[in-house]
Amino acid sequence: MKKRLVFASNNLGKLSEIRSFLEPLFEIVSLEGLGHLNEIPETGNTFRENAAIKANTISDKYGLDCFADDSGLLVDALGGAPGVLSARFAGEPTDFRANNRLLLEKLSLIKEENRTAMFITVIALRLGKNIYFFEGKILGSIALCERGRNGFGYDPLFVPQGFTKTFAEMESQNKNSISHRAMAVNKLVNFLKSGN
Ligand code: IMP
Repeated sequence: MKKRLVFASNNLGKLSEIRSFLEPLFEIVSLEGLGHLNEIPETGNTFRENAAIKANTISDKYGLDCFADDSGLLVDALGGAPGVLSARFAGEPTDFRANNRLLLEKLSLIKEENRTAMFITVIALRLGKNIYFFEGKILGSIALCERGRNGFGYDPLFVPQGFTKTFAEMESQNKNSISHRAMAVNKLVNFLKSGN
């Protein structure tokens, strides 16, 4: 029988991507599939803390192995903001367009060469009492205006290093082959496939 592994998320895009990698080995259960309908507050000060809070909350409550992710954008000229507040940069509830407008506003006096930024994803995996972390990062810069319609969040503003298109101008499979999330997920998958 396949082992059950909870992915502490209800994001359908992330779930289907994770399932495509892991379904041969694991039955991946979402929070909804588990019947856990309350949102888990992300009260940590770091991506690592937030991912761990989510994985530990579910694992402790249900006694199941579990992993969770937390991601965000760090802009150098803003001292690493929006960071862990990326989803709610312009307030709650999450509004991607307002977040992008606010980011452009805050960078309005910053020259192109100083608009460097980084996306990061941290995955926390709870197996029994042990916790493991997997990290993915991609460097890039913030464009002068929004470009492209694909993706979500800050994609219309993020130009990965070595490219001229924003994430939102790229085909999703191209973004997904280089993204911070893909890198962290690949590390998780390799770890799980190696029999740990
Ligand atoms: P989450 O932890 O993956 O839900 O990401 C938190 C927030 O970071 C999102 O709401 C987005 O604002 C931003 N973010 C994370 N990953 C990406 C991405 O790949 N593209 C654009 N925005 C992202």
